[in-house]
Amino acid sequence: MPRNASDADFGFRRVPLSDKQALVDDVFHSVARRYDLMNDLMSGGLHRAWKDALVTAVNPPRPKGRPGRLDEKSPQPFAVLDLAGGTGDVAFRLADRGGPGTRITVADINPDMLQVGRERAAKAGRDIVFIEANAESLPLPDRAFDAVTIAFGIRNVPRIDLALAEAYRVLKIGGRFLCLEFSSVDVPGLDRLYELYSFNVIPAVGRAVTGDAEAYRYLVESIRKFPKPAVFADMIRAAGFRRVSYTPLTGGVVALHSGWRL
Ligand SMILES: C[S@@+](CC[C@H](N)C(=O)[O-])C[C@H]1O[C@@H](n2cnc3c(N)ncnc32)[C@H](O)[C@@H]1O
Repeated sequence: MPRNASDADFGFRRVPLSDKQALVDDVFHSVARRYDLMNDLMSGGLHRAWKDALVTAVNPPRPKGRPGRLDEKSPQPFAVLDLAGGTGDVAFRLADRGGPGTRITVADINPDMLQVGRERAAKAGRDIVFIEANAESLPLPDRAFDAVTIAFGIRNVPRIDLALAEAYRVLKIGGRFLCLEFSSVDVPGLDRLYELYSFNVIPAVGRAVTGDAEAYRYLVESIRKFPKPAVFADMIRAAGFRRVSYTPLTGGVVALHSGWRL
């Protein structure tokens, strides 16, 4: 069937582009309270290692006495924007890794996900800013951030090109965009196993833990519909980023994409 530019993928369904965001919002509204637990259950804890790889690539300045970049003389904080940051999982890792010179802003469209993040931050005494915002149209100034990250968020955004353009706009010259997203498994044998696991185990665990198998069916289907990493790298390039690259992780289950605003 010919593809219509005013339609979008919502998992394996084609829906009007204008309807996709509301459908995505329903998914995350439904799973928000159990989101972090489900991430551990679905990935066997692997999402922690993937997010750590992302944070290592960001390389925020660290407190004195710890190895890594030291920007202690800089009067400006190192500003990171975590797009589609949800419950703040990446933001907390950035805060743990960075020192007091790192300022983290989480932007997400879903108030339920943000609320979980705000509660976590208050409990942990973390100074992280949470803002409700659409990645396609950020209420943030030009050239304000040293790094923009997005983990497992971009495939949920209806107009990916707009979100990439916004990431580019808010980055400082010399700033880096880093995107963690599910990818294509390229290890023979593992691909079949991954397929069986994704379509059978994940929705069943989703039903048991959140009562919503459909939400997890969408998440699995949306992974399959996301562009192959080389195609997504071209989209990052088309947004203006330079030195674009990607690194497959765990046999290609996930890829870490990178681009610079130069
Ligand atoms: C799979 S979760 C990832 C959350 C977090 N980054 C993590 O890795 O734990 C996807 C997130 O994307 C958010 N999202 C979806 N569409 C968005 C949009 N247009 N703008 C900003 N956030 C969006 C959802 O609300 C959800 O919190």
